[in-house]
Amino acid sequence: MRIALIGSGYVGLVSAACFAELGHEVTSVDNDAAKIAALERGEVPIHEHFLPELLKRHHRKRLNFSTSIMESVRASEVVFITVGTPQSETGEADLSFVEAVANEIASAIDGRKVIVEKSTVPVRTCESIRKSLLINGALPDSFSVASNPEFLREGTAVLDFLYPDRIVLGADDDYSASVLQEIYSPLTNGSYYLREDAISFTSSTAPQARLILTNAKSAELIKHASNAFLAMKISFINAVANISEAVGADITEICAGIGSDSRIGAKFLNAGIGYGGSCFPKDVQAFHAVANQCGYEFGLLTEVMRINAEQRRRFLYKVRSALWTLRGKKLAVLGLAFKGGTDDVRESPAIAIVEALLREGAQVRVYDPAATAKARLIIPKDGVLYASDPYGAAEGCDALLVLTEWKEFANLDLDRVRSILKYPIVIDGRNLYDPKEMADAGLLYYSIGRAVGVPRAMSSTVHSREATHLCPITSSASLQPAVTAL
Ligand code: UGA
Repeated sequence: MRIALIGSGYVGLVSAACFAELGHEVTSVDNDAAKIAALERGEVPIHEHFLPELLKRHHRKRLNFSTSIMESVRASEVVFITVGTPQSETGEADLSFVEAVANEIASAIDGRKVIVEKSTVPVRTCESIRKSLLINGALPDSFSVASNPEFLREGTAVLDFLYPDRIVLGADDDYSASVLQEIYSPLTNGSYYLREDAISFTSSTAPQARLILTNAKSAELIKHASNAFLAMKISFINAVANISEAVGADITEICAGIGSDSRIGAKFLNAGIGYGGSCFPKDVQAFHAVANQCGYEFGLLTEVMRINAEQRRRFLYKVRSALWTLRGKKLAVLGLAFKGGTDDVRESPAIAIVEALLREGAQVRVYDPAATAKARLIIPKDGVLYASDPYGAAEGCDALLVLTEWKEFANLDLDRVRSILKYPIVIDGRNLYDPKEMADAGLLYYSIGRAVGVPRAMSSTVHSREATHLCPITSSASLQPAVTAL
């Protein structure tokens, strides 16, 4: 199948490389000439496992790059729209890029095309694209519009594409349904997984993607509802973690207990400093706005957002409780990306916390394995130093803060950490360590939803209330003085 993807961002580029991997002839299009030139030179603009390998494998064979929507649409049978849908000031998704692309596609259509919306959009966007194509001169019989939401996670996007839990196709006519099914057939019939050169992945489940064929509106709602549900799961467990912390229970054991019920599942139950990234914060808000427009007040989502914001404030409260005042304190920060495995810092809780620490007068020495370059563009310069490894960040600091769940942060040499910190204090916003292990290593260890790990040598000086009731159960309003404007 000849496929064009309009928009070579994170979703567009990964999808383009993976469609080429499945055997299709693909053109990845972007109006950013510098980005296309870099891709032509073989540069990879995002940090994504397996992407460099796939781009190298298919570039100039089944995968090409272009800045021309007109030429690419004319050369393709199927056109995926993969441009950004940022958040507008009102919280709704800003669909102006989608509209602009639809208008350009309309004037390029020269034969039967299937136009597929892949960016995350509110329900009824396919309907709007259809109208836009018509009023811009496309003939009704010359196109179909369908929805094919993506469920890729940054950091594991290639594997998520090639080994999906499900493929959702929202088609309102038989032609677009059959074209889309053909595109994904190597995954749904399992033939891709038999190839010797397939990107491999060890999974306990048989690799054969489940297909969900529905109409466009349902597909659009599946995407928003999926992200909102996952965000709700995270806020729920964070709320439970706050209770767990207050009573001296252990949230990781609670999660094991809850998650082993197959109706609930163990995934996305990691308590921490809240969700971030370019998807959940924007999509929960946009889905809330969609509900409002439908005349439904989706109060549950308001609470999901409130808990998420409060989680950062609670972490700051914890830092202050451990260190008393922050002005002039030197703090080591591990992690700037919004999660491990990516260089993306958009809506990163780690960045918000670093900025709050700086406002409070702390000096911060940060380390992130991939996100430093992007973080430097956002974080104020004064008071921040960048280290080249975790130990360089920790050297001489009053405490070590873990803000991103990078795997390598879970395997630090604890003796070395203790010996280079000025005070042996670790405040972990991602629960990467066992409190007992940390205490045994001589570190005073604060985490989320668990009692403080207190080294034997300090047990007489650290008050038991601190060990169990570190952050009071209270409304977010009363946490405000701890941190302003987080
Ligand atoms: C998310 C969804 O997981 C994808 O399915 C979806 O395709 C994507 O959004 C999108 O709409 O494009 P992503 O934003 O890459 O993917 O990241 P996630 O792995 O979902 O993590 C989101 C945030 O939640 C991160 O800040 C992470 O640290 C946090 N998180 C995740 C937790 O705090 N606890 C958890 O248990 C899991």
